[in-house]
Amino acid sequence: MPQNSRGYGVTEESLTLRRPDDWHVHLRDGAMMAAVLPYTARQFARAIIMPNLVPPVTTIAAAKAYRDRILKALPAGSDFEPLMTCYLTDHIDPDEVGRGAREKVFRAAKLYPSHATTNSAHGVSDIAKIEKVLERMADEGLPLLVHGEVTDPSVDIFDREAVFIERVLAPLMRRIPELRIVFEHATTKDAVQFITDAGPNIAATITPHHLVINRNALFQGGLRPHMYCLPVAKREAHRLALRQAATSGKPKFFLGTDTAPHPTKDKESDCGCAGIFAAPAALETYARVFEEDGALDKLEAFASLNGPAFYRLPANEGRITLRRAPTKVPALVNVGEIGVQPFLAGETIGWQIA
Ligand code: DOR
Ligand code: ZN
Repeated sequence: MPQNSRGYGVTEESLTLRRPDDWHVHLRDGAMMAAVLPYTARQFARAIIMPNLVPPVTTIAAAKAYRDRILKALPAGSDFEPLMTCYLTDHIDPDEVGRGAREKVFRAAKLYPSHATTNSAHGVSDIAKIEKVLERMADEGLPLLVHGEVTDPSVDIFDREAVFIERVLAPLMRRIPELRIVFEHATTKDAVQFITDAGPNIAATITPHHLVINRNALFQGGLRPHMYCLPVAKREAHRLALRQAATSGKPKFFLGTDTAPHPTKDKESDCGCAGIFAAPAALETYARVFEEDGALDKLEAFASLNGPAFYRLPANEGRITLRRAPTKVPALVNVGEIGVQPFLAGETIGWQIA
């Protein structure tokens, strides 16, 4: 591996890391999955697969079947490993979750507050309803992945994450301090501060897009549906706090792209879907961010070390090399007749996966 004098694999022309993982991915299913999966598998060794299918993945059998469909759809020769998750509902059976954890079919369980986001209608209407499941997860060491937004319509959409921390997350952590939690797609300085100050049982993923855009991007010269995701991008001060957290190298922050493809026609609509298709240039985008902030030496911790450590899995043995060469992000990815527009579609990024 090429190494500079400080020994972490950065040279003038290239950057070599342990192979990274993506700790938050929406792969969908069927033809959409077949079209988007290669973009994730080409850069990441493993990924945490979100369970918000229709119907959601709530049983061991459904998770195994979904895992098999993913493995079947992989490009030939790929050794990508999908790590499956369970979708928590008001009526989820604690025994099913516990057994799925012990059998290592479920690597985590996801809390969607009901109606918080895409395919969350079956989500949890009140966290009190799943207390038994959460206690069981704490016993099993199964991480809880949270979509951290309240759904109270009287709360301003830009405040929903901060209010969730205050109303739901902090009390939960006081009730069940042993529960291990990943605060998914953190978007605020409030989340960064809370997680930094809290004990070792909570960490957070950060997406490439929340490191690059602030909420102005949603309205730049007109309404920009491809910049819309949930939690929605916030003010610049929040983006800067996220960049500081990601590039700090601190073990509590790690890579999760939240790549969430939707057909272009469903985004460019009167009621456009939430979700940014970040996979096509995810690692390249993170590399650009870390370079801009003079922190390329911290990229390996964020992308390849901190996530496995939190999930209590070994880091990957393989390596990936990024070269300084222009990569053009595809303008559109085709799924049959349907198009899906990537984040930074058509733009050029100065890093390329070798
Ligand atoms: O923007 C989002 N899209 N946020 C989510 O939480 C879900 C995701 C999706 O599944 O499309
Ligand atoms: Zn997501």
